[in-house]
Amino acid sequence: MPNTGGISVDIELTINGERTTVEASSAADLATVLRQHGYIGVKCGCDGGTCGASKVFVDGEVHMACGMAATDADGSDIRTVGALGTQDVLHPVQQAFVDNFAVQCGFCIPGMVIQAVSLLESNPDPTERKVREALDDNVCRCTGYQKPVEAVLDAAERMEGEQSVSADGGHPVSTPVRGAESAGCSGGGRDE
Ligand code: FES
Ligand code: FES
Repeated sequence: MPNTGGISVDIELTINGERTTVEASSAADLATVLRQHGYIGVKCGCDGGTCGASKVFVDGEVHMACGMAATDADGSDIRTVGALGTQDVLHPVQQAFVDNFAVQCGFCIPGMVIQAVSLLESNPDPTERKVREALDDNVCRCTGYQKPVEAVLDAAERMEGEQSVSADGGHPVSTPVRGAESAGCSGGGRDE
């Protein structure tokens, strides 16, 4: 674990549907802790809460995990990009990003997908302007903004006929991304 200072504490989290207790520094941010425990779909781009790469759902709301103290998430339900689809069955938003060639290096995509899913959950038929506003704080270093916007609009169309499926239990939830060694926002080993 990177030396983030603070004392070691236990934090109770439900991550992608799995209840767990994680040991973390009291000074650690949530993105660091999630990545240390294998949820490497949470990216660390700026570590300053401005690029959107570390976005996750916390109790249903989108948060930049790098800007949130892990201790503040104690007792929360966390959903990362790893919960949205599987390699074989992507979430419609993920599939739309692929099909619309919206992915370049891919680093910003988990945050964009989280934000897009949040938008479509609250507004299933957004205008292009609403999509652009929603993605406004998701920075893409490859400068690929047009394709992601097209992908989100495409995903909205694809998901239009899935509302009944959603009402019956939602989209498939994958096994969380696991297996990474410590690679947090506060430490080295970023998988850029
Ligand atoms: S790494 Fe969290 S918003 Fe940039
Ligand atoms: S695709 Fe490379 S940072 Fe967005």
